[in-house]
Amino acid sequence: MEILRPGTGNGQKIYIETYGCQMNVNDSEVVVSILKKEGYRHTENISEADIIFINTCSIRDNAEQRIWGRLRDIKQYKKNNNSLIVGIIGCMAERLKEDLIEKEKLVDIIAGPDSYRELPVLIRTASDGSKAVNVELSKEETYAEISPVRLGKDGISAFVSIMRGCNNMCSYCVVPYTRGRERSRDPETILNEINDLVSNGYKEVTLLGQNVNSYNFNDDKGNQTDFSELLRRVASVSPELRVRFSTSHPKDLSDEVLYAMRDYNNICKSIHLPAQSGSNSVLKLMNRKYTREWYLDRIGAIKRIIPECEISTDLIAGFCGETEEDHKGTLSLMESVGYSFAFMFKYSERPGTQAARNYADDVPDDVKTRRLTEIINLQNRLSLASNKKDIGKIFEVLVEGTSKKSSSDMSGRNSQNKVVVFAADNEKPGDYVYVEITDCTSATLLGKRVKK
Ligand code: SAH
Ligand code: SF4
Ligand code: F3S
Repeated sequence: MEILRPGTGNGQKIYIETYGCQMNVNDSEVVVSILKKEGYRHTENISEADIIFINTCSIRDNAEQRIWGRLRDIKQYKKNNNSLIVGIIGCMAERLKEDLIEKEKLVDIIAGPDSYRELPVLIRTASDGSKAVNVELSKEETYAEISPVRLGKDGISAFVSIMRGCNNMCSYCVVPYTRGRERSRDPETILNEINDLVSNGYKEVTLLGQNVNSYNFNDDKGNQTDFSELLRRVASVSPELRVRFSTSHPKDLSDEVLYAMRDYNNICKSIHLPAQSGSNSVLKLMNRKYTREWYLDRIGAIKRIIPECEISTDLIAGFCGETEEDHKGTLSLMESVGYSFAFMFKYSERPGTQAARNYADDVPDDVKTRRLTEIINLQNRLSLASNKKDIGKIFEVLVEGTSKKSSSDMSGRNSQNKVVVFAADNEKPGDYVYVEITDCTSATLLGKRVKK
C-alpha cells in the first residue's frame, strides 16, 4: 500500500497534460513533486482525476488554439464530476491572467510559471468553490531544491532546468512576458539533482534554459559560475552520462563553451543555435542583437573547434517587413551552415510584444506559407545530405527502445542527436552500443551493430 505523506492532498488524484517546450515538460515534473509532498497522487488516467492541470504554451497562436480545443473536450469530465477542479498553468495562464476565467468558465485555477509552490493553497481555494489565481512573476524563483518527479517513463534521459525567464526581448516573442526576468539556479542544487539521476541509472541529461549561454550564478562567497564552468562540472559527474543543452542564443555562444564541449567526450556534439532569419534587416527588426556575419562567425568557430559537431536551428518565415530578398537570405544561410535539423515556423503575431505594437504583420498568409514550404523543402534536402555524409561512419549510440516502425529494430541517438536505427540483438534501453551507418533517410540513420 502506498503510504501518503501528511498534507492537504488526502490522496486526491492529479492529472497533468503538458504543451509547449521542454521547460514546460520539466515544470510539470516540478508541479507533481510539489503536490506529492502535500499528499496528492499523480494519475495518467484523466477520467479518474480529481484535479486536471493543463500546462500551457503561448508561443504561437496555433499553440493556444489547440489548448482552447482541449478545454472544450474537458467539459465532459466536469459534467460527470461536479467537484472536478480544472487548472490552467504555464505561459497561457501568465499571458491571459484573469481573462481566462472570463473566456472559459470551466477554469477554477490559474497559475503562472513562478507560482507553483502556491498550488496547494490555490487548490484549497478552488475546493471551496472560489476561483484561484496567482500569476505573479518572481525575480528569484528557480525551484532550486525541488526534485522533479520524472514523468517520462524511459528512466534514461531527464531534463534539468538551470535557469528561468529570458531578458532578450526578441520583438516577436512572448516568452519574456510569460516567464519573466532571467535568473540562474544554484549550481550546487543542479549538481545534486544530476548526481541523484546518475545513481538512479539515468544516462543523459539535457540542461534547459531559454538562453543557456547567459547562465551565471554568483554565490554569497563571491564565487561565480558561468555556463562553460557549469558544463565542465556537470560533465565531470560521470563519463557514462551524456550531457546536452538547449537553447543557445548566438549572441552569447562563447569559445569557452565550445572548448568545454571539445574537452569532454560525454558533452554531446550537437548545438541548437536558432538563427530565426538570414537577413540583417530582419534580424535587426527582430531585435536578435547579432548579424548574419556574426552568426556565421560563430558557426565557423563551432566547425573549427568541434569538427564533428552537428548544428540545428529555428527559423521564422514571413516576419514583419520580410521581402523576397530577405527570405532568400534565410535560404542561403541554411545552405552555408548545412543544418542537420530545423524547427521551422510561420510568424505568428503575439499581442503585447514589441513587434505587435510597432510593426505591421504585413506578409500575406499565402506568402508566409509558400516561404515556409521553401524553407522546409530545403531543410529536407540538407538533412538528407547531412545524413548521407555519415554513411560508413561508426557512432556510439545510446539505446532508447524498440524502433517505432519495427519491433525487430532498436532505436537510439548518437552524440550528434541523430536518430540511429539498427537490428535488435538483446540490447536494453540505456545501453551504449556501436553502430556502423549503412543507409539513411532525411530523418534517420540506419546501420548495423559492430564491435569496437
Ligand atoms: N529561447 C529560444 C527559443 C524559444 S521559442 C531561443 O531564443 O532560441 C522557440 C522558437 O519559437 C523560437 O526560436 C522561434 O523560432 C519560434 N517563435 C517564437 N515566437 C514566435 C512567433 N511569434 N511566431 C513564430 N515563431 C515564433
Ligand atoms: Fe524569446 Fe528571444 Fe528569449 Fe528566445 S531569446 S525566449 S526567442 S525573447
Ligand atoms: Fe511555450 Fe512558454 Fe515554452 S510560451 S515555448 S511553453 S516558455
